[in-house]
Amino acid sequence: MSASGYGNLDNSGPYSNPAYSNSQWLEKQEARSRRSKRLVIGTLVGLVVIIAVAVGVGVGVSKSHSSSSSKSSSSSSSSSGSSSSSGTVNQTDPNDPSTFVKDDRLKHSFYGLAYTPENSQYPACGNSLDSIITDIQLLSQLTSRIRLYGGDCNQSALVLDAIQRTKVNMTVYLGIYNIPTDSTPYTRQRDAVLDAIKTFGTDHVAGVTVGNEFMLNYLNDNGGTVPNSDIGNQGAALLLPNITDTRQMLAAMNLPKTIPVGNADAGSYFNNEVLAAVDYGMSNVHPWFANVSIDQAATWTWDFFQENNVIVADALSNKPTMYIAETGWPTKSSDAGNANNGPSLASEANLQTFMDTFVCQANQNGTGYFFFEYFDEPWKDQQFGGVEGWWGLFNSNKTLKNINIPDCFIA
Ligand SMILES: *[C@@H]1O[C@H](CO)[C@@H](O)[C@H](O)[C@H]1NC(C)=O
Ligand SMILES: *[C@@H]1O[C@H](CO)[C@@H](O)[C@H](O)[C@H]1NC(C)=O
Ligand SMILES: *[C@@H]1O[C@H](CO)[C@@H](O)[C@H](O)[C@H]1NC(C)=O
Ligand SMILES: *[C@@H]1O[C@H](CO)[C@@H](O)[C@H](O)[C@H]1NC(C)=O
Ligand SMILES: *[C@@H]1O[C@H](CO)[C@@H](O)[C@H](O)[C@H]1NC(C)=O
Ligand SMILES: *[C@@H]1O[C@H](CO)[C@@H](O)[C@H](O)[C@H]1NC(C)=O
Ligand SMILES: *[C@@H]1O[C@H](CO)[C@@H](O)[C@H](O)[C@H]1NC(C)=O
Repeated sequence: MSASGYGNLDNSGPYSNPAYSNSQWLEKQEARSRRSKRLVIGTLVGLVVIIAVAVGVGVGVSKSHSSSSSKSSSSSSSSSGSSSSSGTVNQTDPNDPSTFVKDDRLKHSFYGLAYTPENSQYPACGNSLDSIITDIQLLSQLTSRIRLYGGDCNQSALVLDAIQRTKVNMTVYLGIYNIPTDSTPYTRQRDAVLDAIKTFGTDHVAGVTVGNEFMLNYLNDNGGTVPNSDIGNQGAALLLPNITDTRQMLAAMNLPKTIPVGNADAGSYFNNEVLAAVDYGMSNVHPWFANVSIDQAATWTWDFFQENNVIVADALSNKPTMYIAETGWPTKSSDAGNANNGPSLASEANLQTFMDTFVCQANQNGTGYFFFEYFDEPWKDQQFGGVEGWWGLFNSNKTLKNINIPDCFIA
């Protein structure tokens, strides 16, 4: 299959309810819209869709550490710090999250991982430092880089705090999930991100990503399909002020280092004016949603990314760095109808194949990617069914799936 034929076929139309004005509802609406696309578009190839992202209302999990129940001078009060024998990470000192015991099955082989802390969906929220510490303990055994999707529910500060307490070598691309129709989510998350950087410093901050699928959503809302079109440029004109604002606010903080500002979107939805305004672009590239067979998935992903994103970005004068924001393979579907993408199954065996054919090869040829994703997100399954909730390397209870992590160290 040639990547040149992959068009913007992702056009199921606008959100039906204008009252959906915050990122939580945006998420839900967006995932619903994506799912219906998959149901209605029957004959097209090369559809690159993105899967549900950002925030979850997942179940709580037990943990064995008690990071914040320590009698130390810690001022944290955001979590209960209970201990549990069924925790998925042990600590030699229950009060010191940096003493976690490493799991032999986990290999530091991923350039990056896509991560949304559970219960980070505004306004419900309910995330906890303890839970995020467990995540960072596990994630740090797989990668040195994670990316977040949004800045709600204090997730920026909690993740940076967890990195500090676990003392791991992890950098994070913080996120601001802004939307075209309401300026409040932008301002709220921007302030949270800036505040987190102020509190925890820049050492573990790799960038701030402004926008997630903003152009995809704008085009869908306004009957467009082509990002570099009049409608696309109208969307870009709404997104660009937020990118500029974040950059100016960061500059005004006089930080010890310049924090790159980027943008994330579906692989076929980058507008050149947006790319010209960012330091980096993060592109969702999903062989599953393009109905590519598992045998071709790794090659297709790399080819698509090169042809549609890397080459395009290189032709711009600012030459933004491009990353694959999401790529992965689902391990199951909650219904039989979505159990395959046409040629291949959602299965742990196929996730294994995708990891075996993509991860070390992409490391070797210098592709920056964020594997999708850290763990299964039950809220997506509850809301949307199909494969939506089943993309994790870990189950939602933070146990590793029945997979072997490829072994090819990458710093
Ligand atoms: C992908 O395969 C599924 C399952 O067979 C089918 O329903 C869908 O229409 C196909 N989509 C594309 C874009 O070919
Ligand atoms: C944590 O320690 C307990 C008790 O030694 C053990 O049963 C459990 O398997 C350990 N869990 C992990 C994830 O290592
Ligand atoms: C946000 O998280 C930080 C880091 O753990 C914590 O210090 C702060 O109190 C939290 N803020 C709120 C409002 O919970
Ligand atoms: C952010 O973008 C929104 C939507 O385009 C816009 O309403 C708002 O004014 C922007 N805010 C800033 C500070 O750029
Ligand atoms: C880079 O890695 C990808 C992913 O496995 C692979 O498909 C592609 O052929 C590689 N490219 C080069 C130039 O080696
Ligand atoms: C975690 O979830 C998996 C998948 O649902 C399940 O097989 C496993 O038994 C669970 N483990 C624990 C300790 O709850
Ligand atoms: C920490 O991770 C970065 C990548 O983010 C890597 O370049 C660096 O070498 C790592 N440092 C150590 C001490 O492992």
